[in-house]
Amino acid sequence: MKAVIPAAGLGTRFLPLTKAVPKEMLPILDKPAIQYVVEEALAAGVDEAIIVSRRDKDAIEQQFTPDDDLVSYLRGVGKDDFADAVEHAGSLPVTIAYQDEPLGLGHAVHCAASATGDDPFIVMLADVIVPDNAISQRMVQVSEAHDGASVIALLEVPEDEVSRFGIVGGDMLDDGTMHITTMVEKPALEDAPSRYAIFGRYLLTPKVMELLAGLKPGAGGEIQLTDALVALLDSEEVYGCIIDADEGFDTGTMDTWLATNITLALRDERYRDTVNDVIERNR
Ligand code: G1P
Repeated sequence: MKAVIPAAGLGTRFLPLTKAVPKEMLPILDKPAIQYVVEEALAAGVDEAIIVSRRDKDAIEQQFTPDDDLVSYLRGVGKDDFADAVEHAGSLPVTIAYQDEPLGLGHAVHCAASATGDDPFIVMLADVIVPDNAISQRMVQVSEAHDGASVIALLEVPEDEVSRFGIVGGDMLDDGTMHITTMVEKPALEDAPSRYAIFGRYLLTPKVMELLAGLKPGAGGEIQLTDALVALLDSEEVYGCIIDADEGFDTGTMDTWLATNITLALRDERYRDTVNDVIERNR
């Protein structure tokens, strides 16, 4: 199975930071956000991650390209841990596809259609990270339990955040998953079928690529992945895999990116004392 990781956006919410640095390359502790996503894909059994990028975002390609000179320099000066880390990033099975026009998330996903072919695939949004890699693995299990159906990760969000997400409605099943019957992209609170938001991870059947090919622009004038999933409900079953708020981190805004870094630093013994000391000194 392949993963499709859309990463062709302009990162406008982070300007001026993202004028020269792609949003997906912003640090989450010691790694760029997109590397967590690629590693999560591999942990879920994916054999190739296709990053859908823009031609001027070459820092993303560099991160996943081998750099033998840097590795041998680091080994020469005895910095083997860093050499291993550089070697690891360069060895990850990443290929790049390009989205040449900013026509929306659904369009970006469809840019990888020739690579995913007739197989199911996982879409992983790069502004959601899952440090313990558990969510995609669980989605694969839910799909297997439901005859290979599409599965979407869902997070219950507060009412005032409903309009930021794709929101689903459906019936809760005994196994804790949701049988999804309706979806709407970024609804007003009064139009939202529930408070369960689509949270950046989708295990999809190849039919979705077919549906994306014929889709008209939707919310925000963009070709929306959610609209293809709404169309999918007419012919296939779709399930929701509910996740906990402390499993997956939205890093898509300055506030959530900062909060993610602080939370993960507090969970990491290498950085915990530093963060606590800074907070203590600035109280
Ligand atoms: C996208 C999807 C939306 C989903 C969200 C978070 O929106 O269109 O359905 O809920 O990601 O995963 P975006 O944040 O790109 O506007």
